[in-house]
Amino acid sequence: MIQRSARSYGCRGEAVSPGGPLAPDLTRATTFAYETAERLRAVGAGEATGEFYPRYGHPAGRLFESLVAELEGADGAVSFSSGMAALFAVFCTFARAGEAVAISRYVYGGVEAIAVKDLPRFGIEVRRFDPFKPGDLDRALAGPVRLVHIETPTNPLSRVVDLEAVARRVRQAGALVSVDATFVPPPLQRPLSHGADLVVHSATKVLGGHSDALGGVVSGRHELLEQLEGFRRRTGAILGPDAAWLLARSLATLELRARQASDNALRLAVFLDGLRERGSKVVRVHYPGLPHHPDHEAARRYLDGFGFMMAIEVAGGLPEAIRVYDRFRVAARAVSLGGVHTLASLPLQTSHAMLTQEERREAGIADGLIRLSIGIERYEDLENDLREALEA
Ligand SMILES: Cc1ncc(COP(=O)(O)O)c(C=O)c1O
Repeated sequence: MIQRSARSYGCRGEAVSPGGPLAPDLTRATTFAYETAERLRAVGAGEATGEFYPRYGHPAGRLFESLVAELEGADGAVSFSSGMAALFAVFCTFARAGEAVAISRYVYGGVEAIAVKDLPRFGIEVRRFDPFKPGDLDRALAGPVRLVHIETPTNPLSRVVDLEAVARRVRQAGALVSVDATFVPPPLQRPLSHGADLVVHSATKVLGGHSDALGGVVSGRHELLEQLEGFRRRTGAILGPDAAWLLARSLATLELRARQASDNALRLAVFLDGLRERGSKVVRVHYPGLPHHPDHEAARRYLDGFGFMMAIEVAGGLPEAIRVYDRFRVAARAVSLGGVHTLASLPLQTSHAMLTQEERREAGIADGLIRLSIGIERYEDLENDLREALEA
């Protein structure tokens, strides 16, 4: 873990030393030689500076963490080998046997899996709550609860949680709030400034942005991060140097990419909503930038721009959704999100395939839903692709 404000290689307008590198070097070494026993002991004990062993930390990882911390407005950040490794570390570090964690009903499937298969084995009770139903969080907070975990915006309908209301209630209960903010990155969304204690990202998504590196990162206050780093050290879930280098490199363009993708998404959502009004195959557009989205006001408050994720529902259920989907030529038929390319997936066949029909109905996942992660392509190419796929 590193404190904020390390070197960012000129991408934020700071002076670059003459003759100095404009890109960081990559250190892959897994061990480092020292002159004396005393020097090696002191570095290992953290009494002297120097590289020791990369499972404890390495230069590319510290650079990535410092850049993320700066973007989030956090004391620091701790990086992990994947988003799931980061989330698992959060649960293992802050939950206790005999106590409960409260998890939003709208979280990534991997968190659902941990909640069902792993946490109960460690004696941790899991309570579910709906952050969009008044009073549901109060019910979940009855009794000893350590940690409340939410995702905002949610997958795939981009619901936006009223984070300040949740954080206020959780603080009264003496628990911590962790927020998976993978769908909208900093600086477009900064949950720590709205009361979150920890913010988690699957860095595999928009932080990396090029679909070529797996990683996860948690930002927050020092006293929490120290505990997380201890867990990472013990369990070895650290982000490797090569992926950390790629992710740090990608942060130089994060804001540009996120804003371009968000602008594309808003224009596309307005266009698709126009098709819906004119009675096309599109029967619903789920995008928080549209005034009829149930959380449009919350999105205006918590997001700067409305993000790159949207979902459309087509009439005719899954068979028609598949027909439209298979006609895309610009949007790639792929899982994941947040890359420079527009990616499309069918929640019924991917992220929500494990749910029963009743559970999908409760979660508002229609059979004809197509999820889109909008990229940074030329807007006209995206609009044409969607129009042709829908009108064919
Ligand atoms: C919102 C969200 N959180 C966490 C994850 C897990 O991240 P990773 O795949 O990097 O482990 C994902 C992956 O799709 C995700 O969409």
